Amino acid sequence: MSSLPKTAIIGAGSSGIAGAKVLHERGIPFDCFETSDQVGGNWVFGNRNGMSSSYRTLHINTSRERMEYSDFPMPKSYPDFPHHTQIAEYFNAYVDHFGFRDSIRFQTPVADAARTPEGTWRLELGSGETAEYDALMVANGHHWDPRWPEPAFPGHDVFAGEQMHAHHYTDPDAFRDKRVVVLGMGNSAMDLAVDSSYVAKETWLAARRGAYIVPKYLFGKPADQLHNDPRVPYAIRQRIVQRLILAYTGRPEQYGLPKPDHRFGEAHPTVSGRILDRIAHGAITPKPNIAELTRDTVRFTDGSEVEADLVVYCTGYKVSFPFFAENLISAPDNDLPLYRRVFHPEIDNVFFLSLLQPLGATMPLAERQSEWVADYLRGEYHLPAPAGVRADIEREREKMFKRYVKSKRHTMQIDFDDYLYDLEKERRAGADRARAAGFRLPVAPRAAAPGSAQRSTATA
Ligand SMILES: Cc1cc2nc3c(=O)[nH]c(=O)nc-3n(C[C@H](O)[C@H](O)[C@H](O)COP(=O)(O)OP(=O)(O)OC[C@H]3O[C@@H](n4cnc5c(N)ncnc54)[C@H](O)[C@@H]3O)c2cc1C
Ligand SMILES: NC(=O)c1ccc[n+]([C@@H]2O[C@H](COP(=O)([O-])OP(=O)(O)OC[C@H]3O[C@@H](n4cnc5c(N)ncnc54)[C@H](OP(=O)(O)O)[C@@H]3O)[C@@H](O)[C@H]2O)c1
Repeated sequence: MSSLPKTAIIGAGSSGIAGAKVLHERGIPFDCFETSDQVGGNWVFGNRNGMSSSYRTLHINTSRERMEYSDFPMPKSYPDFPHHTQIAEYFNAYVDHFGFRDSIRFQTPVADAARTPEGTWRLELGSGETAEYDALMVANGHHWDPRWPEPAFPGHDVFAGEQMHAHHYTDPDAFRDKRVVVLGMGNSAMDLAVDSSYVAKETWLAARRGAYIVPKYLFGKPADQLHNDPRVPYAIRQRIVQRLILAYTGRPEQYGLPKPDHRFGEAHPTVSGRILDRIAHGAITPKPNIAELTRDTVRFTDGSEVEADLVVYCTGYKVSFPFFAENLISAPDNDLPLYRRVFHPEIDNVFFLSLLQPLGATMPLAERQSEWVADYLRGEYHLPAPAGVRADIEREREKMFKRYVKSKRHTMQIDFDDYLYDLEKERRAGADRARAAGFRLPVAPRAAAPGSAQRSTATA
């Protein structure tokens, strides 16, 4: 038995590999289970796990320097907004550079994760084995389970054309010579409408709410690299950024898009360097929300109607944990309250990586979160008392729900720089608590060594 808690990681996407790298370096015994035959999750186009939402034309919309891990820069030969193939190569190179590929069990999905009476985790693997762990890092991603319009639009069952969710889109050929309605105002809708606009007969972009369109560049720099100091009050930063964007693009309604019913920063950012240009060229026609479908047409809430062959729902994703019993851990309406988006308030040995929606990239966040969890597993960080944890969660939630437009996509929003700033402060405070408690391990090491998975018949 090791002197540190044995940990299982579910998933080897960009978050799971950040977790694995940190545990590897910090000497915490672990196994990482991955459904696919390779790392990279969403960024592996055509991933054999069937879960990737990437498409042939996908480029990142957070810039290279914001997205890369802190100790492994992306190659300087990469553009500011690399293609998904480059991003997938980068994640592969990361695993080889830090040398922990042997700890990843590929093509081994976690089918079930349940707590034993002793509080350890018992995993059932797709291979038919079971294994026990002291702690669990969950990194299964939250952009793979499509959320279709709820409720479905009237007439969805009589529409003779095709209806598709953005998750299933892979290639612009899907739009070729068709009359296409794209629904949504998030980043999927922007990319798919633009792709469609080059090959479709006609493209309409329908939205129930307006958005500020953040350009990829401002002042000749990737927009997400503009100086953003968490010590400056948020309201001031918000006003400055909104003015900059509007000065650069003009108002969305000038392009025929709905007027945003909120200020910038009160919705997840919609980033596109091309959507306004394609609208300006007449290649995309904005519309309000869909009201109903008929056999051959889509009718919008302003009463206008178009004949359509394809409706693409870019209506977001569900947060799903198919391996947990619903009454143990679930996220109804995408809502799972966590302490600083990592620690579960009632279960002291489960941690979530990148279960958040940042105004910024997720990879450096997963990296910092993993270091924080490693501190905890080594007894070098202690959480505040349970009442303090609960109060903090409530405070954060109240602030977020007050700031953001009410939507199932706004249940775990964070500001990239502010989050990292606060996390470092909390790590230091928790280190003091750990020192005062003599570096006691919050999670006792009890489970058998990693790699000791057993055939379920042997453990039955
Ligand atoms: C189209 C699109 C574009 C995006 N662009 C950006 C961007 O530019 N910048 C950015 O920061 N974010 C972007 N995102 C957000 C995206 O979620 C992150 O980039 C990133 O993929 C998150 O990594 P992850 O490891 O948390 O999840 P994923 O990439 O989804 O990886 C999860 C991994 O877990 C594995 N897994 C799942 N369930 C199990 C199981 N039961 N057992 C074993 N393994 C399992 C999967 O096989 C997968 O490999 C984008 C999302 C989408 C949909
Ligand atoms: N190039 C890239 O890097 C890229 C590309 C695609 C996606 N992404 C990322 O992937 C994640 C998911 O993005 P996404 O665009 O797929 O989803 P999303 O951000 O959740 O956006 C969903 C959109 O659909 C709308 N919507 C939801 N239900 C609706 C309904 N019933 N009727 C009408 N409209 C409805 C939402 O409107 P409300 O706001 O009113 O709820 C919102 O505009 C995000 O993190 C995004 O940044 C990145």
